[in-house]
Amino acid sequence: MGNFNVLVTARSFGKNDSRAVNILEQHGFTVTRVGGDRPLTSAELALLVVEADALIAGNDQVDAEVIEAGKKLKIISRYGVGVDNVDLAAATAKGIPVTNTPGTNEQSVADLAFGLMLAAARQIPTVVEHVRTGGWDRRLGTEVWRKTLGIIGFGKIGRGVAHRAAGFDMRVLVHDVCYDANAENDFGVTFVSREEVIRQADFLTLHIPCTPETRNMICAAQFEMMKPGAILINTARGGLIDEKALIDAIRSKSIAGAALDVLDHEPPKNRELLELDNVLITSHIGGYTTEAINAMSMLAAENVIQGLAGSCLELAVNPEVYRF
Ligand SMILES: NC(=O)c1ccc[n+]([C@@H]2O[C@H](COP(=O)([O-])OP(=O)(O)OC[C@H]3O[C@@H](n4cnc5c(N)ncnc54)[C@H](O)[C@@H]3O)[C@@H](O)[C@H]2O)c1
Repeated sequence: MGNFNVLVTARSFGKNDSRAVNILEQHGFTVTRVGGDRPLTSAELALLVVEADALIAGNDQVDAEVIEAGKKLKIISRYGVGVDNVDLAAATAKGIPVTNTPGTNEQSVADLAFGLMLAAARQIPTVVEHVRTGGWDRRLGTEVWRKTLGIIGFGKIGRGVAHRAAGFDMRVLVHDVCYDANAENDFGVTFVSREEVIRQADFLTLHIPCTPETRNMICAAQFEMMKPGAILINTARGGLIDEKALIDAIRSKSIAGAALDVLDHEPPKNRELLELDNVLITSHIGGYTTEAINAMSMLAAENVIQGLAGSCLELAVNPEVYRF
């Protein structure tokens, strides 16, 4: 197909399984991987992208500066679901399709959201650390069984969490901009307003994209509405929560705790959140399982192959790019 350069900055791309890299190389592409212990900044990526015909990006900052520097770019293949780290308008203006990998990691993220809920309810990490350092005190927990679970965003991951909640006989209230009557029956959930989900949830879990509209959706007003015993779980995007308001809510006991896989700045700049006893933080591991990274790698690679072949990409998140 031609000797195209594929730059891979997604750190776990093809990590366990060489098939995704092999398939790119079999098409005659030169694959360059860039490793590191964190996603790349715009300035770092702008230097690397100059010769790339395709970019397979993780949570790296793919902003207008990067897109401008990538003069040869023909496709940006986002390895993952969220595209909030990609300047879609800038890509569209340059005629570059941006794809993602839906349907590859929702079970992994749903597992983690459920695991975080159980871990926070019983304060498992704190107790484990206590025992590890010679202690034997106990922490009073709360049950998950038959509690009310509030889900904001009833897409693939939200549905995965609801499926798991059925096994714990939970009452599940959901809010989504799209009402789906069939889903109410299929998953045994009830669609209500966003405010109602927030007010009634014992556990509130977020599964929506971070957009200008949803940024800081959970701020001081929402913490005031929540039950004092409520636990907030966020495996979606850090930008959905006003972190300053969260710190205040935890300190003033407006809510009982939080479990976060994602933060507004990753790794966190603000130590305050890390120092709160009843806030659990994981390092954006939602989609980081063997199953998910293998599936994401293959789909991200397939998107690149189709993109470099000039095909109209079904998974383009900026389909308006094809109107030009
Ligand atoms: N922690 C991780 O590693 C990880 C991995 C994958 C995805 N994610 C995040 O999880 C998010 C959800 O992923 P998904 O696969 O379920 O996506 P999805 O597109 O299947 O579902 C998102 C749902 O949110 C709804 N929605 C959008 N805006 C809304 C709003 N303002 N109010 C209510 N509902 C709204 C949509 O209608 C849709 O049903 C992604 O956008 C991504 O940011 C995180």
